[in-house]
Amino acid sequence: MCGIVGYVGKADAAPLLMEGLRRLEYRGYDSAGVAIQNGTGLEIRKSAGKIANLERLVAQSPLHGSTGIAHTRWATHGAPNQTNAHPHTNCSGDIALVHNGIIENYDVLRTKLAELGHVFTTETDTEVLTHLVEECFEGNLEQAVAAALTQVEGTFGIAVMSARDAEKIVVARRAAPLLLGVGENGDAATWVASDVAAILGHTRQVIYLDDDEIAVLGEGTYETIDLKTIHEPGGWTPIEKEISHVDWDLESIERAGYPHFMLKEIHEQPNTVRDATRGRLLEEEGTAKLGGLDQLELEINAAERVVLTACGTSWHSALVGEYVIEELARLPVEVEYASEFRYRNPVIPPNTLVGGISQSGETADTLAAIREAKRLGAATFGIVNVVGSTIARETDAGVYTHAGPEIGVASTKAFVAQVTALTLIGLMIARRRGMSIEEGRAIVRALRELPGLIEEVLATEGDIRMIAEQYRESANFLYLGRGPNFPIALEGALKLKEISYIHAEGYPAAEMKHGPIALIDEEMPVVFMAPQDSVYSKVLLNIEEVKTRGGRVIALVTNGDQNLTDKVDHLIRVPKTHRLLQPILNVIPLQLLAYYIAVLRDCDVDQPRNLAKSVTVE
Ligand code: G6P
Repeated sequence: MCGIVGYVGKADAAPLLMEGLRRLEYRGYDSAGVAIQNGTGLEIRKSAGKIANLERLVAQSPLHGSTGIAHTRWATHGAPNQTNAHPHTNCSGDIALVHNGIIENYDVLRTKLAELGHVFTTETDTEVLTHLVEECFEGNLEQAVAAALTQVEGTFGIAVMSARDAEKIVVARRAAPLLLGVGENGDAATWVASDVAAILGHTRQVIYLDDDEIAVLGEGTYETIDLKTIHEPGGWTPIEKEISHVDWDLESIERAGYPHFMLKEIHEQPNTVRDATRGRLLEEEGTAKLGGLDQLELEINAAERVVLTACGTSWHSALVGEYVIEELARLPVEVEYASEFRYRNPVIPPNTLVGGISQSGETADTLAAIREAKRLGAATFGIVNVVGSTIARETDAGVYTHAGPEIGVASTKAFVAQVTALTLIGLMIARRRGMSIEEGRAIVRALRELPGLIEEVLATEGDIRMIAEQYRESANFLYLGRGPNFPIALEGALKLKEISYIHAEGYPAAEMKHGPIALIDEEMPVVFMAPQDSVYSKVLLNIEEVKTRGGRVIALVTNGDQNLTDKVDHLIRVPKTHRLLQPILNVIPLQLLAYYIAVLRDCDVDQPRNLAKSVTVE
C-alpha cells in the first residue's frame, strides 16, 4: 500500500529518495512521485506505473536540493495515473504533500475550499489537504498543518513541505504508520518513512510516531509534538520520544541471488522456525517460555476463551492456531476476520483473551479489531512480526515472530512463524493446564526437528516445479484438507490466486460433496492434503470420489505412504512430524507450487497486481 519517504540533510535528496521508493516497492503501488526543495521553490516529478518510469523522468530532468519527500501510491480515490500520483500541491504550487490513508470528509472539505476559490486538479481525497494547509498558512508550516488537521476526519500519515517555510518537513500521523529516522555517525540528516525498509540503508535509529503526533524535521534535528495540544492554552506540548534500534540489516531486504523475494523467503523457512523458537523452548520442562506474555500471566491463567483475529494469510494461521490451542490446552478458541469483528458488536465475556495476528502489525482492520476488544474490556495480545509496529505497541502483551522482513507480497515465512508462535502459546498454556510433561517434551522435540524436515521438503522443489509445468494453463484449482490441514488448503489456494491469478478454492475435504464436486472434471486439478492422521481413511475416500469423476489429483502424503501411488496423478511426499506441526510442512510444497505456476505464467511474483503487502486502509 502507499509508501512515504522524506529526507532533510546535506546530501542531494533525490537519489536517496529514489532508493527509498525502491525499497517500498514491495508494498504494492501503482504510481510514484517525488518533490524537492531546490532553493527557490518546489520541483515535482510524478509518473504512473513502476518506479522505473519515475527514474527515467528524474534522469531526463534532474532534481537538486537537500530536502524532499517521495511517495508510492496505491489508488483509493481516483485512477492510478500521473495526475493523481502524489506529491500534491496547492494552487500556487509552493506546498507539496504526500499522504497515506483516507480523508473521509474530503467531499465536504473540497466543496468548502472550492467556494473559497481553491482550484482542484486531481480526483484524490489527498488534494484537499494541500489546499487546507494553504488556507491555514500564516507563515509557519507546522502551525498550518496542525490547524488543517483539526478539520480532517479519517486516517493519515503525511509529509509536507513548503517553499514559504523552507528546509523543513512537517509530518503527522493518525492510524497510518510513520516513523522518523535519525542520522547515524554524525550524519546531520533526518528521515521520515512509512516503513523502516525505506531508510534502513542509512540509519537504524528510529522513532515511531503515535496517533495524533506531529513532528518537524530539520537538517539533523526533529521535534515531536502532541497534535491535540494545539488549541490548549500554552499549546504545542513537545513530547519526548524514545529512539529505538532496528535489528534488521540491509541484506535481509535484498534478494541475495534469488530471482524473487518470495523464493528467498520460502527457502528461509528452516531458519524462520529456528528464530521463532530460539530461547523459547524448555525441553526439560516440556514447555515454552514467552517473556512477552508475562504481563498477562494472570489473565492467561484465568482465560476461559480465546478469540484470534486477523486478515488474509494471518487469518489462516489463526485457524491453524484454533486447532492447536484447543487440542493442546483444551481452551475454546474462536477465529474472526478482523474486518467483521470490528463492526459486529462482538460478545466478549469476562476472561476472554483476544489475540491479533499480523505480519506487518499495521493492518487497519486488525488494529481496529484489537482496539474494539480493548474497549470491550478484553486482555489483548499480539502475534506480530514487525517490531515497534502499531499492533505490537497497542496490545497488552505479545509474541514477536522474528521472521525478519518479509518483502514478497504473498506471505510465506511470516505464516510459518505465526503458526510456530501459536504452537508455542498452545504448548505453554497446555502445560499450565495439566498437559503431561511427556506430551510437552514431544512437542518441544518436534519443534526442534522441524527446521531439518523443512529442508527435506525444500529439496523436492524440482519435482514440484515439474508438476507446476503441467498445470500452468489450468483455469481453476481446488485444495482440500481436514483438521489443521484444512487451513492449509485455504492458504494453498490463496497463494495460487494471489500470484498466478488462477481461480482457486480451499475447502474442508468432506465438504466437497456439498458443492465443489459439481466442478470436477478432467480440467480440474485437486490438491489433497493426505497425511497419515486420524482422518486419513476419510480423505482417501474423497480422493476416490474425485478420481471417479475424472479429476486430476495432486496428493501431499506422508513419506513412505504406498497406498496412493497408483491412484493419483502426482504425489508430493512430505516427512512425518507431530500431527499439529504437519500443517507447517504441508504448506511449503503449496507455496512452491504457486510460485512456480506464477513464474511459468510470467506473473510479477513479488508484486502481484492490485495487492498490497500491508493494508493500512479499511
Ligand atoms: C495483505 C497481504 C497479505 C496479508 C494480509 C494481512 O492482504 O497481501 O499477505 O496476509 O494483508 O496482513 P498482516 O500484515 O496483518 O499479516
